[in-house]
Order: sequence, then structure tokens, then C-alpha cells
Amino acid sequence: MDKFYLTTPIYYVNAEPHIGHAYTTLIADVMARYYRDQLSDQAVFFLTGTDEHGAKIAEVAAKNNLTPLEFCNQMSPKFRQAWKNLGIEYSRFIRTTDPDHEQNARDFLVSLKNKQALYQADYHGLYCTGCESFLLERQLTKDGFCPDHQRPPEAISEKNWFFKLADYLPVLEQLIADDQLLVAPSNSKEEVLGLLRQELADFSVSRPSVSWGIKLPWDDQQTIYVWVEALLNYWTGLRQGYGRQADPLQQGYGRQAAVQQGSLFNKFWPPDLQLIGKDIIKFHCIYWPAMLLAYYDGDTRHLPRQIFAHGFYTINGQKMSKTIGNVIDPNNLVAKYGVDGARYLILSQFPIGTDGDIEESKFTEKFNADLANGIGNLLSRVTVLVGKKIQNHESLWKSTEIISNNTRIKYDQLMSELKIFEVIKLINKIVQESDELLAATKPWQLDAVADQPAVIKTLSHVLFALTEISSYLTPILPATARAISERLNQLRLKQFDNPPLFPRIT
Ligand code: MSP
Repeated sequence: MDKFYLTTPIYYVNAEPHIGHAYTTLIADVMARYYRDQLSDQAVFFLTGTDEHGAKIAEVAAKNNLTPLEFCNQMSPKFRQAWKNLGIEYSRFIRTTDPDHEQNARDFLVSLKNKQALYQADYHGLYCTGCESFLLERQLTKDGFCPDHQRPPEAISEKNWFFKLADYLPVLEQLIADDQLLVAPSNSKEEVLGLLRQELADFSVSRPSVSWGIKLPWDDQQTIYVWVEALLNYWTGLRQGYGRQADPLQQGYGRQAAVQQGSLFNKFWPPDLQLIGKDIIKFHCIYWPAMLLAYYDGDTRHLPRQIFAHGFYTINGQKMSKTIGNVIDPNNLVAKYGVDGARYLILSQFPIGTDGDIEESKFTEKFNADLANGIGNLLSRVTVLVGKKIQNHESLWKSTEIISNNTRIKYDQLMSELKIFEVIKLINKIVQESDELLAATKPWQLDAVADQPAVIKTLSHVLFALTEISSYLTPILPATARAISERLNQLRLKQFDNPPLFPRIT
């Protein structure tokens, strides 16, 4: 592997970013940092952004007495700010109102039409603006409501351009069954295979009557269906032309120029990892690859390598919603727990493939237990002990015994499977074992001169453990990893004070 292109969903701007959006984007940030270390800064491209067109956004904008674009211009920067606050370093933040996205999306659809993958027909059926999605009777609750939005869908009858999905279903089923298009984890793969066996209907690529959208070049009565346009961001996000240059830093954000010369697209296409929540599996694992197969005449080399669907956060047993008033704002977490504290609390709640219920009231307890009393306290105890008990610093840095090589192999394995929760557990286990070693050997009771070999034996083990902890934490809690590593360097140089890594929160 010589490049890594990863994406998150682009988020609707109808409401402010919440902890669910932050979860996906943080996982992507951790993976981007991990692969930057594995490959190089230049070899990774991390795309995220906002989804701004469609009836849903237009409705909310109107409620706020703003034009849709004015509204999006207010909302989109809130996502950028939230990601900045969480220390997330993407390569490009795409907005679907970016002119280059609009032009490239049009080009893609013209090409689909030229390849005869599209046809015009009447659609009679149901539409839920909340999900921006066409629904079937059998998907509704017994009261006839959209299950996700708890409101009745609209009955619509309109002319649409349709995509000939049926042509691609058998090949997609094969590719996914064989893991050539890897859908992970395995329960998501089973879900997609189940959907594919249901003979899904062709889907619309354009709608009349939705004025807030990108007009079809050959039919200006229609705008591109918002989901189709949104999926295309993964393709348009890398393309140059239409005013966009190769260097994503020109817009003043992003971590580094991912490529200095040549085409981003040639370097990074296709996606290596597409992170999504389990709510949008059908669009990503069926519609999106089918559109790519149509565009690339069935050439499977242009499909994403892996689509990973993670589970959902619920709060005290309930779906997060503005109406219930239980939405957790990631900015508040950063304000209270700091950048790395917030990153830790968001990533350490549950394994990635499962859903997890969280209670905000337990956050402080977890912060204190794992960070203040765990990693932070270990570092501080060791600092004190080195200061008091060590005379010959050289001999301190020789041990490698407490952690075997297997631990690093296991770490890499877990990271490659996005098992960040398990990595955090692994790190906490090393902290715990180090604490146990200190408790068993009690170097603070030993004599700094007479017992020097015993003191060195214990402390060199624990210092090595901290070196490893710092390295494992690098993609997850970057500032903490840096702080630990700086402290270790200071200890080497015998110049240190001992500020707490994570002050306890009451
Ligand atoms: N705009 C579409 C996506 C288009 S991508 C081509 C959309 N946007 S969204 O704002 O609703 O964001 C959905 C995504 O946000 C989910 O797939 C997931 O990544 C994240 N999450 C939203 N709520 C979440 C939780 N409660 N828990 C975890 N992740 C959540 O759908």
C-alpha cells in the first residue's frame, strides 16, 4: 500500500454537529494519523465535509428566514470549528455548494446518461424529507410513519431520471460476497447481501420541484437527487479543475499539502476506507458502487476497497434528538475535558461495530479513573520516583521486558481493523500492569543507594511501558502522546518538573 484515501459521510447542515458526527470524524482522524505514521504525511488524504442541498435544508433555512445558501454559510463552519476543536486534521473539507463539486457532479451525471445508465420515468410513491429518501409501504411503522423521523412521508408523483440499478445487482452481490468490495464488520456485510437479494428498485438520480440543488445540464427542470450528489463528493473531492488547484491548503485548512504536483485524483483514487454509520449502508454499499461501475464501464478497480459501518450512540437509552433535548455537543466536551479528554471519552465508550448507550453523567468518572488516576498518575509517580531514587540515569533506559514484541503486533492488527476501543483497553492494561509492578516492588520504600539495582529494574520496566504507551496513543490522543514523550526526554536529561497530565475534574 503506498497511499491511503479515507472519507467520512458529509453531514447535513440542518442541525449543529453532535457527538455522533464527532465519533465518525474522530475515528477517521485516528486512522488518518495512523496511516500518516505508517506511510508518510503526503500519502494520506482524508476527506470530510457538509451536505448542503435538498428539500430538508431548504425547509430549515426558510424557517430561519434565510436563503438556503445563507443558512449553509452559517452552519457549515460550525462543523469545521468543531473538528478543529477536537484536533481533527483533514485534508479537505468539501461543501456540496463548492462550485467545483457542482460542476464535477454534473459531469459525472452527463457521463452516466451518455453511457445509457439513466432513463426517465414517473415515480409514484412515498418520500421522507427527514431522511431525504424514497420509502416503501413496508418500511413504515404500523401508524404509517417513517421509522426514523416519526412522521408520515409525503405521497409524491413526479417525473424522475432513474439509474438502472438492476444491471449492477448481480455483480455487486458477487463482489461483496467475495470481499473484493469489503463491507465491514461482517454483520454489515450480511445486511447488504440481504438487501441485494431483495431485488432493489432502480433509484432516482434527479427530482423536479426541489429547487435547492444542482440542475441537470440536459434537463433544467430537474435537480440532482441530494443523495446521489452527496455520494459523488467522494469522487469530486479529489478532482481538480473548475477553479480548484492541487493543493488543498490553499483554502487555509487541512493538515498538509497532500500532494505538491500532479493530480490528487490520480494519486489517491479509489477510496481505501469509507467510514459511515450503519444508517446509511444501502446508499454507500449499493447505490454508490453501482454508480461507479456504470461510470467506469464495470471496471472494479475503481470501487472503494473497504466500507466500514460503525454502530450508533444512544443517550440514556434514547435516540439523540433535538426534541428530546439530549444531544451532546462535542464542543462542550472539549471545554470541560480538554481536546484529548474529549477525544478519549468519545472513542472509548464501545467497540466500533456495536451500538452503545452512554450517560453523560459518567464522563467525569471515566475521565478521572482512566486518565487522571490512570495514565496521568502513572507518569507522575514515575517522575517523582526517578527524581528521588535514581542516581545513574544511563542504566534506566535499557529494559524492554514488561511489554513483549507481540504487543506491538497486536496493536497494529487492532488498528488495521479500526478497533480503537480495544487499543484503548490494551493501553489501559499496560498502565494497570505498570501500577501493579510498582505496588509489588514498592521502589519508594527502597534505599536509593543500597537498593539501586532493584529500583532501576522496576523503573526501567515502567519507563519502557510509558514509551510504548506514548507511541500507541500517538494517533488517538496526539497531545498526550507528545507530552509523555517529552517528559521521558526530560527524565533522561534529569531536568523535569511534574505538572499533571490530566488534572482531576470534580
Ligand atoms: N448527509 C448524509 C450523508 C451523506 S454521505 C454521502 C447524512 N448526514 S447526517 O448528518 O445525517 O450524518 C449521518 C452520519 O453521522 C452517520 O452515518 C454517522 O456517521 C453519524 N451519526 C449520526 N448520528 C449518530 C449517532 N447517534 N451515533 C453514531 N454516529 C452517528 O446522513
